[in-house]
Amino acid sequence: MPRLCLPRIVFFGRTADEYARMWNLSLADLTGSQVLDCPCGPASFIAACHDAGINAIGVDPMMGRLIDEMRRTGQKDIEDTMAAIESSQSGLASSDPETWMAEKYQALEHFLDDFRQHGPGGDADDGRYVAASLPNLPFADQSFDMVFSAHLLFSDASVENGGLVASSEALDLPFHLEAVTELARVTRHELRLFPAVIMTAEDGGPHPWVDPIRERLQSLGFDVRTESSDDDEGLTTSNALLIASRGAVGA
Ligand SMILES: C[S@@+](CC[C@H](N)C(=O)[O-])C[C@H]1O[C@@H](n2cnc3c(N)ncnc32)[C@H](O)[C@@H]1O
Repeated sequence: MPRLCLPRIVFFGRTADEYARMWNLSLADLTGSQVLDCPCGPASFIAACHDAGINAIGVDPMMGRLIDEMRRTGQKDIEDTMAAIESSQSGLASSDPETWMAEKYQALEHFLDDFRQHGPGGDADDGRYVAASLPNLPFADQSFDMVFSAHLLFSDASVENGGLVASSEALDLPFHLEAVTELARVTRHELRLFPAVIMTAEDGGPHPWVDPIRERLQSLGFDVRTESSDDDEGLTTSNALLIASRGAVGA
């Protein structure tokens, strides 16, 4: 049976609780911070931040779409990903796929409710959802104290390069370097990337592009470390996030 792979970059998102586990941070840790989540997907993190009084912006190319299209795409991508997980050797297939799927639907519904009110054209549009694509972000240098980027870099590399995508949509190393350079540009304090592991290996293990990305971030004045993550999604038996803190040079 093959390891997990996906035919495209999928549009589904995680709950705020899942985000907290990925980042080893609670919402309370973000109090007073200006936060960017890119890609935000249909995750409920941005809504939860605002509910907690945290100023947060979510960026994703899909934020320019109509609600009905986002709902259809989100539902299909959850279902297709679940089918791919079940027909693969992924650890998640044998652990708790029902909870995994329920969390993705919960996040999607929470996101859609929030986007309807606060997204472009909503009655209470406050600019919290922005349609844009890496490697180009429409923000000034160092606009955000904390920048988060989950389940795009590393995981959407090709299967041959330690990611999940088995099509021409797979992201290559030049894209990764341009994207982290842009994420670093808008970071005032700290940039976190997740997961920084090989998605196709059962035990995870550092993704081969962690080193070139660390070198790029260090050349931009960041201190870089990796940390084991509390995330328990079960696709790999270990998980890690990469944390880049703006050092004295860029402070
Ligand atoms: C699996 S979702 C991750 C969402 C969220 N960060 C999470 O972990 O739940 C991947 C997202 O990447 C978005 N995406 C694809 N290409 C992108 C790009 N060039 N720049 C920013 N986001 C992109 C997709 O629209 C999709 O919503």
